[in-house]
Amino acid sequence: RQGKSLVVAVDGPSGSGKSSVSKAVATRLGLAFLDTGAMYRSVAWHCLNGRISFADAAAVEAAARTVKMAQSMDPGTEMFTINGINVTAAIREPKISEAVSAVATNLGARAELIRRQQALIAEHGRRIVVEGRDITTVVAPDAEARLILTASEEARLRRRGLQLGGTQSAEQLAEQVLARDAKDSTVVDFQRAADGVYTVDSSDLDFDATVDAVIAVVRRAVNAG
Ligand code: DC
Repeated sequence: RQGKSLVVAVDGPSGSGKSSVSKAVATRLGLAFLDTGAMYRSVAWHCLNGRISFADAAAVEAAARTVKMAQSMDPGTEMFTINGINVTAAIREPKISEAVSAVATNLGARAELIRRQQALIAEHGRRIVVEGRDITTVVAPDAEARLILTASEEARLRRRGLQLGGTQSAEQLAEQVLARDAKDSTVVDFQRAADGVYTVDSSDLDFDATVDAVIAVVRRAVNAG
């Protein structure tokens, strides 16, 4: 792969539009794309599938170490496999969303996934958009552009409700979005921008305007760096 190193690190809470925005940014800038949340989800799927108990921290860590995960890093193609099985849809199921915090709060599993993510960034010649919770701070603190994508609680709940087709009550949505963020923030602080990290608030922006805002921040960060 050719070209100057351009790692774009994007963190933020669920419902901020992080994934779809990061993917569009990668497409526009001609970069690879890595969804790190999907790696945590894949380990959770592997544990459920292999009847590995989430209460057994050592077993969850071992699962993270040994599982064979592969993913498309082309922003136009979403595809995840575990030991050759296509789990692209399965890792988005509610039972995975409920279980995944057990992986995200397992420090041994985190260390292993962070190592894999850093290897993938290097393999892609550091021309990549990486999206998650600890990318700006832990996985790629040396990224050329680092930003947090936020949205108000209200906007996040509204978007998640639309994603789920209006089938959930306000209480169910709040439980899914806010309770999970609260659980996740016990390990990584992804709500506050670290030094040198830009913030893009998408509450009042539509999708295209958010993508434009992120690309503007990337240009500014690169010029500043
Ligand atoms: O973004 P997501 O919902 O697919 O993330 C799945 C879970 O993994 C969620 O509980 C947050 C956690 N996660 C993390 O701890 N660190 C990351 N870099 C990415 C996701």
